[in-house]
Amino acid sequence: MSITSNDKTSARSPGVNYQDLHERDSRPVPEVLRWQSGGWLGDEDIPVSRYTSREFHELEKEKMWKRVWQMACREEDIPEVGDTLVYEICEISLLVVRTSENEIKTYHNACLHRGRQLREYDGNAQELRCPFHGFCWNLDGSLKQVPCEWDFPHIEKDQWGLPEVKVATWGGFVFINLDPDCESFSSFLGDFGWHFEKWPLEKRYKSVHVARIFPCNWKIVQDAFSEAFHVVATHPQLLAAIGDANSQYDWKDNYSRAITPNGTPSPHIKWTPTEQEMFDAMSDRRLDEPPILTLADGATARSTAGDGGRATLKEVLGDKADEVSDAELSDSIYYTLFPNFHPWGAYNRICYRFRPYEDRHDMSVMECMYLEPYDESQPKPPAVPIHWLGVDDDWAEAPELGLLARVFNQDTFNLPKVQKGLKSMKKPGVTLANYQETKIRHFHTRLSEWIAKP
Ligand code: FES
Ligand SMILES: [Fe+2]
Repeated sequence: MSITSNDKTSARSPGVNYQDLHERDSRPVPEVLRWQSGGWLGDEDIPVSRYTSREFHELEKEKMWKRVWQMACREEDIPEVGDTLVYEICEISLLVVRTSENEIKTYHNACLHRGRQLREYDGNAQELRCPFHGFCWNLDGSLKQVPCEWDFPHIEKDQWGLPEVKVATWGGFVFINLDPDCESFSSFLGDFGWHFEKWPLEKRYKSVHVARIFPCNWKIVQDAFSEAFHVVATHPQLLAAIGDANSQYDWKDNYSRAITPNGTPSPHIKWTPTEQEMFDAMSDRRLDEPPILTLADGATARSTAGDGGRATLKEVLGDKADEVSDAELSDSIYYTLFPNFHPWGAYNRICYRFRPYEDRHDMSVMECMYLEPYDESQPKPPAVPIHWLGVDDDWAEAPELGLLARVFNQDTFNLPKVQKGLKSMKKPGVTLANYQETKIRHFHTRLSEWIAKP
């Protein structure tokens, strides 16, 4: 079949339309899951140099990383006054500090004397004292003490506060921006917050945080987690119960979203699985194991996943859990706020972040956090520290990831080979699917705009 120009925007996979699944939900589905938004972003190839060249990395750093709002940490990573956290992007080191119960500041992590990093580790501090010669600042950034002050008559003490970086908070996350003239965070965020009104991320705590280093450009890793197109080749064990090619992709302003329905068969399979078979695939049943439960008469895979989710949520949401739809408990709803922040929607706990490793264009860090709801009548549980995995480690070395470790190993197996392949590629660009790679297209469109700014 040839593709007409009209098909460029309207072509969709055979199989279920995501919105039609809502008509069969056992509960009313929230408005945000009925929302659809998008538009044509072009079909030009993405230059290979974006992933392989040092020059592009430098451009990205100067034009984007040094100017864009980016997530630095969770608020609960620094719960006590004096808690500090080192956030690094490319070669820039920043110190995020809780300066009072209700205030977080971020400083360039460099001593104003001869430039040593003020702190290289996270932890609590009553003052910010440089280990080299002992210059010291108060938590609020004002200069506290100059050693041998008689030797520095040329220092204007009230001019020697630590230079600050802009800070904003949203959803329990701390965001920073290195550009003093940047647009406000709320303008950058737009109506992104509307999507999480029903699932407030500030009412979660960080129960898992795993970071793994990869020998490839950070965008290769991020792109791989931005579409469900790879499921058929990369995760064939999921096909009985994943509407991979029936995913819905949306974008608006600085954010995008994909929703991959679960508990519905992939249009790639040529047989019709029963509801029980779909539930077994959703619950990662191995072929030589019995099902974790037998579906009740009339129950569907989605309603059963919903019932399980509602029962678990009851412990933290009480009776409100009964109103949560099957869609919110079954589907993979993955958001991206440009450039690298990926909280999942509804009651999936996942949140990703991708960025360059140190100042390398050919190495990156992928982080996966779980944001867990908790009983709000109790204090928020403490956030876990980062569990680092090296280039040669396996996701299974982070057993706290549970079932996801195996899926991640499938996902990330290809990525260093993409970097290698791109370096050998004769074609100057990578080619994207018009619909299923919408999130990647949206990211690169925004990136092009940042790079083009004067
Ligand atoms: S470099 Fe920090 S006190 Fe000298
Ligand atoms: Fe995947």
